[in-house]
Amino acid sequence: MNELQLELINSVKKFRLDQIEPLMEKDDHNSQFRPDLFQKIGDMGLTGMTLPEQYGGADLKYQDLCLVLEELAKSSVSYAVTLSVSTMVQSIINLFGTTKQKETYLPKLISGEEIGAFCLSESHAGSDAAALKTTAKKTEGGYILNGSKMWITSGGIAKSYIVMARTNDSGSKGISAFIVRDGTKGFSYGKKEDKMGWKISPTRELVFENCFVADEDILSEEGQGFKIAMSALDRGRITIGSIAVGLSQRALDEAVKYSLERKQFNQEIFNFQGLQWMMADMSCDIECSRLLVQKAAKDFDAGNNNVKLASMAKMKSTDTAMKVTTDAVQIHGGVGYTKEYPVERFMRNAKVLQIVEGTNQVQKIVIARELKKEYQG
Ligand code: CAA
Repeated sequence: MNELQLELINSVKKFRLDQIEPLMEKDDHNSQFRPDLFQKIGDMGLTGMTLPEQYGGADLKYQDLCLVLEELAKSSVSYAVTLSVSTMVQSIINLFGTTKQKETYLPKLISGEEIGAFCLSESHAGSDAAALKTTAKKTEGGYILNGSKMWITSGGIAKSYIVMARTNDSGSKGISAFIVRDGTKGFSYGKKEDKMGWKISPTRELVFENCFVADEDILSEEGQGFKIAMSALDRGRITIGSIAVGLSQRALDEAVKYSLERKQFNQEIFNFQGLQWMMADMSCDIECSRLLVQKAAKDFDAGNNNVKLASMAKMKSTDTAMKVTTDAVQIHGGVGYTKEYPVERFMRNAKVLQIVEGTNQVQKIVIARELKKEYQG
């Protein structure tokens, strides 16, 4: 880490320990998201780090963002994910939006006053995203949206929604991206999911019934929606990776601490080689994941859209998070399975990291396709 990064991470660490950590057990239990806490994250300048200064951002790198997300995720995967997805939405508007769209939507997203949501999945179109059915029919002055979106992170708390909808029938080329605002007539919220983890971050269905979106709220042009979504996910998969690294690190910290305190057979359980080897493997896997995430972010910052590295980073670090959090529960034994210790929450929060922003099986498809390109030219 350079000096700026060290300073940044120290202030994020202090903030998460003072203001986030004490609330997490209770808020997880009550599935409570706190907009005022997210605003405080914004006040620290963390909600638009990679966006241009012109709109209130800090013009920092993805490498910096990943370090911040890693640190936040040590206390709260939910707030880190809200931040990661909202930043992805901002980057879409920044890369594909008109000057007017950027001036209208970016400042409040960057300041943390508003949250952004990314809306691609539908009930029958999860991994096969190009099969989405929500329609956007051209009408005078805009488009009429009909259909529904599923499993939308920040559904209900976000103000700006990037919605992928079908403007014609020609597969992935018939998909366009729109900015739809909370409160637009014909746009409502459906079922709120009751999830295993990520309980603080709301996940919700979105319903569009003859919802009018003006021409000026299409992003780029008709037919570009799938490419916009895929390229955004290339960035999102790196940031999800960094969240997985933070979660894994915290789980290891808790496991080592516990093993040094807990006594069985007249000694600290840390002394047993079986546990030492588990913790050595956990530590090694976390370091590999961190290096891969940082390599993917560095490559992206250098202007190379390295799809393969992004998928590798996401897959390796989220599989590691699942394994490490499960092992952390194991090291805690019976109490690890109770809410007396935070590791059960960490394990619940890890699972969906292997599913969101493309399942890890989809990451393997992407990696294999890139390998084929490399070897076949
Ligand atoms: N960047 C830019 N363009 C891309 C691209 C990328 N990374 N990947 C594909 N494309 C382009 C292709 O070049 C192709 O364009 P042409 O037709 O002009 O050549 C077009 O998109 C179609 O590409 P594919 O043929 O590869 O598409 P496919 O239907 O085979 O799908 C897939 C590929 C990788 C399986 C893709 O569907 C996918 O990633 N699925 C997973 C979906 C996903 O990640 N969902 C996450 C939901 S959002 C979420 O979880 C966020 C949250 O809230 C936490």
